This record gives sequence, C-alpha cells and structure tokens, in this order.
Amino acid sequence: MRDILPEEAARWQAVEQAVREVFGRYGFEEIRTPLLEGAELFERSVGQDSDIVGKEMYVFERDRERFALRPEGTAPVVRAFIEHALYRNVADGYPARYYYLGPMFRYERPQRGRQRQFHQIGVEVLGTEAPEADVETIEMLWRLLDALAVEDRTLALGSVGDETCRPRFRDTLRRWLDPRRRDLCPDCQRRYEANPLRILDCKVAEDQALLSQAPTLLEGLCAACAQHFQAVREGLERAGVPHAVDPRIVRGLDYYRRTVFEVRARSLGAQNAIAGGGRYDGLVEALGGPALPGFGFAVGIERLLMVVPRTLAPRRPPDLAIVTLGSEALEPARGLASRLRAAGLRVLLALGRRPMGAQLRRADRSGARFALFIGAGDAREGLYDLKDLKTGEQQRLSEAAIVDRLRRH
Ligand code: HAM
Repeated sequence: MRDILPEEAARWQAVEQAVREVFGRYGFEEIRTPLLEGAELFERSVGQDSDIVGKEMYVFERDRERFALRPEGTAPVVRAFIEHALYRNVADGYPARYYYLGPMFRYERPQRGRQRQFHQIGVEVLGTEAPEADVETIEMLWRLLDALAVEDRTLALGSVGDETCRPRFRDTLRRWLDPRRRDLCPDCQRRYEANPLRILDCKVAEDQALLSQAPTLLEGLCAACAQHFQAVREGLERAGVPHAVDPRIVRGLDYYRRTVFEVRARSLGAQNAIAGGGRYDGLVEALGGPALPGFGFAVGIERLLMVVPRTLAPRRPPDLAIVTLGSEALEPARGLASRLRAAGLRVLLALGRRPMGAQLRRADRSGARFALFIGAGDAREGLYDLKDLKTGEQQRLSEAAIVDRLRRH
C-alpha cells in the first residue's frame, strides 16, 4: 500500500479529469459503491477457485456476517444494478453505461506494479450483447490512452467462448492434460479436477512452458462465438484501434464469456497489463437479476501512471506570492490575500512575520510567476508593486488592475 504525495496527486487528478471528460463523451455516468461487500458476492462472481477469491481477498467476520474489502469493481456494480432495479432504464440498443474510480484490495505478493491496495478506473456496460458494445467500449479506452499520451501500449484480444463451447473445450483440455498432469505444479493438479481452464492462467514458469503447447479455446469456439469475435475484430479495425489476437489470454476471473482483452505496456516487465476486461454475459442473472449481458474493463491507475509522460499535469504553482514589508503590513496583507483568493487567484502568503529574503526565496521556490510587495504605505494608498519573477519587470498597480492582469495571464 502506498501514500500518494501531493506532487503525484496532481497526476492522479489529471488522469481522473481525462476519464470524466472522455467517458462523458460516450455517455458513461459515474457510480460509487462501498469498499466493503458481502464476501459471497465475489465468491459467486469472480469464482471460488480464482486466485483473487481463493488467496487474495481480505475477509473478516462481524456478527456472523462475512465481509470482503472489494478486490474488483464489476461484481459490486452488478449488485447495485440489480438492487436498485437500474435495468429498468435499459432499452434495446441503449445499455446502461457506468464508470467508477477507486481503491481495490488484493492480498498479493507486492512487487513492481503490484500493490495490495491499488486503484482502478473501471467501466461496465449492461444490457447488450451486440459486438458494437465491445468495440465502442474498447475504442473509448483507446481514446483515453490517446488523451493521456500513452504510447507504450498494445491491445491483445481473445475469446473464451460461452456455455456451448466452453464445456467442450474443458473436456478437450482435460484430455490433453491427462498424460501431462504429473508435471504440473500442486495447485494445477488440484485445478485439474475443480476447474481445468484455470490451469491456463498458472503463473509458474515450468507450467507455462508446457501449457504453451496446449490447445486453445479460440480453435474450439462454436459458430455463434466465432462470429461474435469476428465482428468485434472488424469493428476495432474500422474504429482504427490496432489489436493482435492472443489465443492464450486467460483472465483471472471466472465471469467472462466471449470477448476478453488486455492492454499491455512493454516497458512494465512482468506486471505489464495496464488494463483488462471483457464480456460477462450471464453474470447479472447469476447474481439474481434479469438475463442481461455485460461488458467492461478496468485500468490499473498505478500502472497507467508509469506510462503516462511526466510532462502531463505538472504541479500547479500559486498565481502570486505576497511579500510583506514590515509588521504593520501584516494585517492589510491578510485582507488583500482574502480578497484576491475570493477573486479566484491562488495566493501564497507566509503565516506570521518572516524576513523579506525568506519570503522571496519561498516565492521563487513555489514557482509563482508574480510577487506582490505590500508595505503599510502601499496598503493606505491601495497601490502595490507587482513583479514578474520571470522577466523581472515591475509595475505599480491597483488591486483591481492586479486581478485583471493575473486573470489575463
Ligand atoms: P483485472 O484484470 O483483475 O480485472 O484488473 C484490471 C487491472 O487492474 C489490471 O490490468 C491491472 O492494471 C490492475 N491491477 C490488478 N491487480 C493489481 C494489483 N495488485 N496492483 C496494481 N494493479 C493491479 C478486473 O478487475 C475486472 N473487474 C475488469 C473488468 C471490468 N472486467 C469487466 N468489467
């Protein structure tokens, strides 16, 4: 878990601002759900034998109720969608579109790009299985990354099929794995019985080498899934979103059906997924709602910030620093600062009396473009020396003229 210090927080704000701006253009609205949910919600959606639920969830009990710190945002949004009957607003061709920003919690082994509290930007589209939804939503993510000047990114796309082709593939995979089982790690031996598809997601290097030879779900898609996948690919091409098919994408969550994808940044090394998502038809129904399909993704903000250029969102300095000359000017300076702030300016002023040299050094360090000098005489006269700290140019101006000058700046 990490502190986000003021210098970095400016970059977070820039990302959040871009999210609201870009997602707003696509008709997405913000939704905020609690950080705590009943643990069962994730067990029923992300899946009992996923790593997230099996090993990584922070769970605690209170009055015999089991709670979890949310490890992800899709299940909570679907829960809220059902609980508040938001599906009533959904019409054919007009799904519900939500986005959220906030912390998620997973008890993972911390490493570069992986925290136990991390933050996601997530979106969920509920109520359509049209491939256009997949295309438009991925396009929106791509435009967000454009807005943030992220160049290090590739889009990997796959499909995990549906309830028609997936069980068939599970059998194919089991048959392939059977003679090789003993070479797998103990976790995978267990998964072989419970959920062999999970084996494809194993992080153990020896297992991965072996599994690179395994049959892929893409080869075994049923006609409907293959057609859906093709439509998504063509749509992305038309939208100008470059992608590569990766038949081995396995997402770590159980709810996916059909489209799955990841955006990866090469420079990030082992934890290189800056975003991941896909379609989850069947989840709303499984959690007790109507049979409405869903699609969404989440971006890891910490990882995203590693590939957002540092020049984006420099820290914002004050507009001007007030330099007080003599103790009689202290009170007038405070009054002046209040009025300038009320006029919308960002003002730096020392608390209490400080030597002029110290005040000037602070003004310089703060990055303020202007310094305003005020002595008791200036206060009586209502005229102040305003110095442009960049050019050195100095003017004597009234308060109104100073506000005007700085607003234009
Ligand atoms: P996920 O792939 O588990 O998907 O997480 C999405 C992104 O969150 C990852 O690509 C990564 O950038 C970031 N992330 C995950 N775990 C960590 C961690 N421990 N530290 C730092 N960053 C991390 C989901 O959570 C799905 N709910 C996405 C989704 C929404 N699918 C459909 N709708």
